[in-house]
Amino acid sequence: MQAKKPEGTEDLFGARMRAWEAMQAIARRIFSRYGFDAIETPTMEQVDVFVHGIGQSTDVVRKEMFRVFSGANFANVLESGTEKGLKPSKRLALRPEGTAGFVRAAVENTFVPQGGAPVKMWYAAPMFRGERVQKGRLRQFHQIGAEVLGASDSALDAEVIIMLMDFYAALGLDMTRVRLRINSMGDPACRPAYREQVRQFILDHADQMCDECLIRADINPLRAFDCKNDACRVVMEDAPKIVDALCDECAAHYAKVKQYLDEAGVAYEEDPTLVRGLDYYTRTVFEVEALGGVGSQSAIGGGGRYDGLMELEGGKPTPGIGFAVGFERIMLVLEDQGIDLAGPAPSCIYVACADPSCRDAVFATCLELRRAGLRTEADYQGRSLKSQFKQADKHSASTCVVIGPDELAQGTVTVRDMKTHEQEPVATGDLASYLLARVAPGETL
Ligand code: HAM
Repeated sequence: MQAKKPEGTEDLFGARMRAWEAMQAIARRIFSRYGFDAIETPTMEQVDVFVHGIGQSTDVVRKEMFRVFSGANFANVLESGTEKGLKPSKRLALRPEGTAGFVRAAVENTFVPQGGAPVKMWYAAPMFRGERVQKGRLRQFHQIGAEVLGASDSALDAEVIIMLMDFYAALGLDMTRVRLRINSMGDPACRPAYREQVRQFILDHADQMCDECLIRADINPLRAFDCKNDACRVVMEDAPKIVDALCDECAAHYAKVKQYLDEAGVAYEEDPTLVRGLDYYTRTVFEVEALGGVGSQSAIGGGGRYDGLMELEGGKPTPGIGFAVGFERIMLVLEDQGIDLAGPAPSCIYVACADPSCRDAVFATCLELRRAGLRTEADYQGRSLKSQFKQADKHSASTCVVIGPDELAQGTVTVRDMKTHEQEPVATGDLASYLLARVAPGETL
């Protein structure tokens, strides 16, 4: 039986891999302007990191986490039918998102000492959610995310959002077809009373709402705003809105974020029903959607403030804010808009062997050119010269260096331009500098 990749996963190679690398390069370039450094946290974390951070009642934690058990632990779980006998440190899951693990790392490594300046970090990494697979919704997908810890200044909220929009623009997305929605979710001072209002509203409309929303009413009523069920959505349109329930501090913070966005010329829509699917958010939340042509999975990024998350992960109270974007979703939009992020396959220098007696000279020449910084390819299968030229085209070679016995005897090689087919002799000792002077920038790695 030939093994197949797991459902909802993808092998990344060729043009798609180049696109993923290009997206990361653009992220690095844009995010570094805002003072962000890269971070990589483990692909798996203790389940508690996600349960405490993302929230017990969220779909991500309740239904979508891939659990990980190593050998002996797995056997124990199989035998007992429960993981209860396992220490928390042995209960692991693949990360469904990057923020909880980042904050765990911040607590463990004291990224923000008391009174320290905010820390800003970004990541590009695979995430895992056991979702129903469809176009733009995978079980292993890739996010680029950015997180800031250590300040609650509304300027940071605005800067993080502006940076996100700068990133989409740098990818070449048509920004007139990208919609930014924002909202404030309040804080522990004002949200509990609002939650209660929404709970009561749901119970008052119980006969019109789905069973799931009735369960949500008690555990997480705000999730009802996100219900996929059309009838529930219609009912929730009349539910109390958080903007009317914000305390003075949250209202002032939200107003300031909007003022900064206005000053930056970033267009946004206020959406009082935007609640996001993860429990850690406080105050500013935002989501970016691509309009037209991309089907139902149009959310290409989202994020928000999480001022209580550090404490949930066992750290000192430290405000935070961040976002993540989905590589695969953005690719659907880029493809729809005819934008080729991957670019052409890189060209190279191809060193062709005109006679088997020259094989060692080919080897030595490749070595020299590579060490000079040139992407260099050669034949390893004893092909004819004609067939090597075909191979050179397959490798997108801009230039062929042909090494034959006569030229070798004279201390030269033949340099062939693969486009014009013009050829000229070049002294062996001058070859690297000759090629470096004429290759396109991408060929010098
Ligand atoms: P999220 O909204 O769950 O936020 O995910 C961010 C983005 O990841 C989505 O907008 C979407 O583009 C992509 N995405 C999510 N699930 C899938 C999937 N199954 N298949 C393909 N793409 C997907 C977070 O993950 C938060 N950690 C963002 C954040 C960072 N908030 C604060 N800091």
